[in-house]
Amino acid sequence: MSTFRIAPSILSADFARLGEEVKNVVAAGADWVHFDVMDNHYVPNLTFGPMVCEALRKHTTAPIDVHLMVQPVDALAQAFCRAGADLVSFHPDASTHVHRTLQLIKAEGKRCGLVFNPAAPLDVLEWTIDDIDLVLIMSVNPGFGGQGFIDGALKKIERVRRLIEASGRDVRLEVDGGIKVDNIRRVADAGADTFVAGSAIFGKPDYKSVIDAMRAELAR
Ligand code: DX5
Ligand code: ZN
Repeated sequence: MSTFRIAPSILSADFARLGEEVKNVVAAGADWVHFDVMDNHYVPNLTFGPMVCEALRKHTTAPIDVHLMVQPVDALAQAFCRAGADLVSFHPDASTHVHRTLQLIKAEGKRCGLVFNPAAPLDVLEWTIDDIDLVLIMSVNPGFGGQGFIDGALKKIERVRRLIEASGRDVRLEVDGGIKVDNIRRVADAGADTFVAGSAIFGKPDYKSVIDAMRAELAR
């Protein structure tokens, strides 16, 4: 399994100081910066667009991991690629032609991923596992930070880990939703290697101590 990555979600950051927040969380040891993009159509919430990605791109060299909770997908996927995203993932049920959307992201020279909601089937992976760089398993229902981890996601993570191993490809397995210091080890044991955490980090007085505690759990 590849090295662990911690990807704080700026959904829980102070939007009035977003540039500073991104700099601080990367300085505190974050590996990636996770952008939760919501359009108030695919999910009942509205966050930020490509312009915010473009603005923040100037403030960090850390990989920007864009999670599109939008429908339709294609135009925004391309726009985020051009705004400086390093990786763009989307929900297959939000795209009319999943393989074409993956091709579009790769044509922009970026990495691509597919995102699966708690009740979403994994069937599409059978026909796309060789085309993606990341699988993102939602351990909450998308739309809001600060929700509780859905334990049923653990079995799904195990299933995806087996699929990735069978493919022989270097595909990252990211998990998003309700990740805390006290459950990250369990999620890693199920097969995850990349962890989105919003409210566990942002809003806390010391980002580094939380990230260090997560890494200590992962190293156990
Ligand atoms: C849901 C969001 C959240 C967020 C993480 O659509 O994707 O899962 O990133 O939020 P926390 O870590 O607060 O659950
Ligand atoms: Zn996310």
